[in-house]
Amino acid sequence: SSLAPCLRGSMNPKTMMAPGVAVRDPELLEKKKAAIRSAGPVNVQVIADFDGTLTKYWINGIRGQTSHGLLQQGNQVYDAKRQALYEYYHPLEISPDIPIEEKTKLMEEWWEKTHGLLIEGGLTYDAIKRSVSESTIAFRDGVVELFEFLEKRGVPVLVFSAGLADIIEEVFRQKLHRSFENIKVVSNRMVFDETGRLIAFKGKTIHVLNKNEHALDMAAPVHDNFGDPNESDPDNSLVKKRTNVLLLGDHIGDLGMSDGLNYENRVAIGFLNTNTETSLQNYVDAFDIVYLNDGSMGGVLELVTQLC
Ligand code: TMP
Repeated sequence: SSLAPCLRGSMNPKTMMAPGVAVRDPELLEKKKAAIRSAGPVNVQVIADFDGTLTKYWINGIRGQTSHGLLQQGNQVYDAKRQALYEYYHPLEISPDIPIEEKTKLMEEWWEKTHGLLIEGGLTYDAIKRSVSESTIAFRDGVVELFEFLEKRGVPVLVFSAGLADIIEEVFRQKLHRSFENIKVVSNRMVFDETGRLIAFKGKTIHVLNKNEHALDMAAPVHDNFGDPNESDPDNSLVKKRTNVLLLGDHIGDLGMSDGLNYENRVAIGFLNTNTETSLQNYVDAFDIVYLNDGSMGGVLELVTQLC
């Protein structure tokens, strides 16, 4: 990136910048990698955010859509109401000036209202399928290869999102054309009635500021013996024992996804999609590796081949 040389001056002297990638502390990263490698793939798990992390931020010059953003309820009045909420609350979500407690209340309010509108507006599962097929959403290049590699090694992947689980899973179905036994989506999950109409959401709402509180619930339903329901691990001891974590996110708040897991080593990988100049220093301080310019998953794939 042309930005890299001018930013290098403000970085920690150890920070390594190659085009499109910054590593805060290469020696520390090597140490973590060696520790993870020697403990073996059986101790590794991946925790990944969805929007803007597994998916591209730009698609042919157009902003990629999110699981919320792509949804067309088939009822323009309700689509417009949700859009109005987005226009009101999204600037609050990204404002640096609102204290965290206040912002948490605002985010709860936003998620509650949006979920309420989805129910009131009579969202159907068919509308979700149609919305995904008409959406502008794409996985980063290399995501499928990454999932395939991790599946072969028996490494579980927890996709953790404040978006909508049913939509994310439909995106997986339509865009990946195959399913992965090792992937579990933890996000806001819908309940449909027998006619396919949304009637409720399951469990506690996950919004952008409480992703960390859900870290343990998230681990709960993951089976560690893929494909063999008789050997599933209902109390999760096996997943909890996977103490080496590879975390993928595109916001600093995504680091909270591993809170509550007693990890021994964590390699945190950040995708910095926007505001590169103002945010790079913060991202480099927070993540072990930062990918700039909406890059591919190639670097992460290479990393896991070194680890597992
Ligand atoms: P995440 O995918 O990073 O976990 O966050 C979900 C995003 O969804 C968050 O940035 C705000 C956005 N969002 C919408 O676009 N529309 C909505 O109605 C709601 C509640 C959230």
